[in-house]
Amino acid sequence: MKKLILFLSLASLMFAFEYKAPANYPSGEVGELVKLGEDIVNNTDTHPLTKDLVGNKLQCKSCHLKGSDGKVGTGEGISSWIGTAAAFPAWSKREKTVQSLQDRSNNCFMRSMNGKRPIIDTEASMAIAAYITWLSEGHTIKMNEKGPWSVHNTKLYPKGVKHFKAIQKKATHANYVAGKAVYASQCASCHGQNGEGIAGAFPPLWGKDANGNWLSYNTGAGMSKLDKAAAWVKSNMPLGQGNSLSDQEVADVVIYMNAQERAPFDLKTRLLPKEEMGYYNSKVLEEKHTVETNFKEFGLDLKTIKGE
Ligand code: HEC
Ligand code: HEC
Repeated sequence: MKKLILFLSLASLMFAFEYKAPANYPSGEVGELVKLGEDIVNNTDTHPLTKDLVGNKLQCKSCHLKGSDGKVGTGEGISSWIGTAAAFPAWSKREKTVQSLQDRSNNCFMRSMNGKRPIIDTEASMAIAAYITWLSEGHTIKMNEKGPWSVHNTKLYPKGVKHFKAIQKKATHANYVAGKAVYASQCASCHGQNGEGIAGAFPPLWGKDANGNWLSYNTGAGMSKLDKAAAWVKSNMPLGQGNSLSDQEVADVVIYMNAQERAPFDLKTRLLPKEEMGYYNSKVLEEKHTVETNFKEFGLDLKTIKGE
């Protein structure tokens, strides 16, 4: 009996995720690169190596949340980076190719960060990969044939996306109105009445600043898709109170959030000129989205939903 208990507790230790960065940085050049990567994921829009590739006021940490150890990406919700490096190379349906961790991170620049795709294996790209790989130390490699996510996210994310899609496909103007009320009571205190955020404290969710610059993720980002954003919000928001809102409240608040003004996405304008960029690991070379088309994909008409 004792042996069985020992075995079971060892087994659960082996399979349980610990949401913490390793206690120490690696030594030497690798350690230096991990620290550089950590600096970049904390300060993506202002860091000298990445600021020109970012077209909004977000950082990687805006969505890959900090955990109790204060490290970017160790949060326990969906889009945690704990174990992520152990899933790559991984299949990506969006690009229709098998992607490296660098590909995956670089793609976030042109979508979530509303900017341009970094050149593969440049210092910034390697530094981010080194940081994320450090967070996966000790995790068993398990390549992902279904999506470019860690084992942790594969368990939670596709299931949540499917669930919310079924709810949101039935949306009407009433859900938009309900979502607006949820936003005012649960989100606006941090993200602002008009999604503008509070500089240095809370990231913006939509719209432009006074100079006409976009503030948040564009319409090609995972977060701009109603179902994906709902799975993420359910798990992570309001900050520190993930899983506190009902599924309907989350579905509605995301319909409201993603119906607001957001930069269009045209893949061709997001890639550097071929001579400069080199190889782009994707079989999909044409891709366009707007707020309207993101709603249309759910069979929803944006104007009707907004009551215009
Ligand atoms: C606006 C939110 C947002 C921002 C900002 C963002 N990401 Fe992501 N990221 C996501 C979401 C949502 C997913 C998972 C869903 C998907 O595949 O669309 C994801 C997935 C990933 C993954 C796969 C992780 C896994 O195990 O599931 C990596 C790696 C990643 N992002 C890197 C980055 C890097 C590097 C940056 C900064 C340059 C960044 N992201 C900025 C939202 C964001
Ligand atoms: C207590 C403050 C707080 C509340 C309330 C809150 N958030 Fe957030 N939210 C944050 C912070 C802080 C981050 C980014 C984390 C970081 O930078 O470390 C964030 C990130 C986000 C992001 C990804 C980054 C971006 O700007 O696009 C989305 C989307 C989001 N929140 C939506 C919501 C929604 C929807 C609600 C209401 C249901 C909500 N939040 C409530 C503080 C809050």
